[in-house]
Amino acid sequence: MRTLVAYHTKSGASETYASTIAGTLKGKGFEVDLVNLKIAKPDITGYDLVVAGTGIRMFRIYGKWKKILKHKDIKSKKLAVFLSSGAAIENPQEAIDRWLQPLMDRYGLKPISIGSFPGLIPEKMAQKPEHMNAVKPEIARQWAEELADKLRS
Ligand SMILES: Cc1cc2nc3c(=O)[nH]c(=O)nc-3n(C[C@H](O)[C@H](O)[C@H](O)COP(=O)(O)O)c2cc1C
Repeated sequence: MRTLVAYHTKSGASETYASTIAGTLKGKGFEVDLVNLKIAKPDITGYDLVVAGTGIRMFRIYGKWKKILKHKDIKSKKLAVFLSSGAAIENPQEAIDRWLQPLMDRYGLKPISIGSFPGLIPEKMAQKPEHMNAVKPEIARQWAEELADKLRS
């Protein structure tokens, strides 16, 4: 399955998760390109699966990331999306319900999987010391494994 893993990041969490997901899917036999949307604007037409990940700041998902959701061919692709956020440290489902699902509904998209992963919190914003380094690549590895299994069945 030709797969694009594309991400937009400001603090680096989404990059860590995207590269974990890309590595996991490669390990499962997928043909994967990993693209930083700040550096390149990928042509999605040649892909079967698009995995798109972003962060959020000040209650707003990164605006430039949304461009990939607006691509004219996106609805013809299998799509999986993920969000890195502070909210997901304590409540991953809340981050999906508040931000990611409403965006999917607005664009009329039905992703096969939605991931919500804990992000990086700057020291002065962290409510607890353990929140500062909450990035857990193993969560994304497991999510990608489940995604691969879902696509195979
Ligand atoms: C200035 C700033 C504002 C943030 N605002 C939010 C927010 O509104 N909601 C939230 O859940 N996390 C918030 N966060 C945490 C980010 O979502 C977290 O840093 C995440 O790792 C961002 O993704 P990225 O590392 O891929 O850029 C904020 C972080 C910063 C630095």
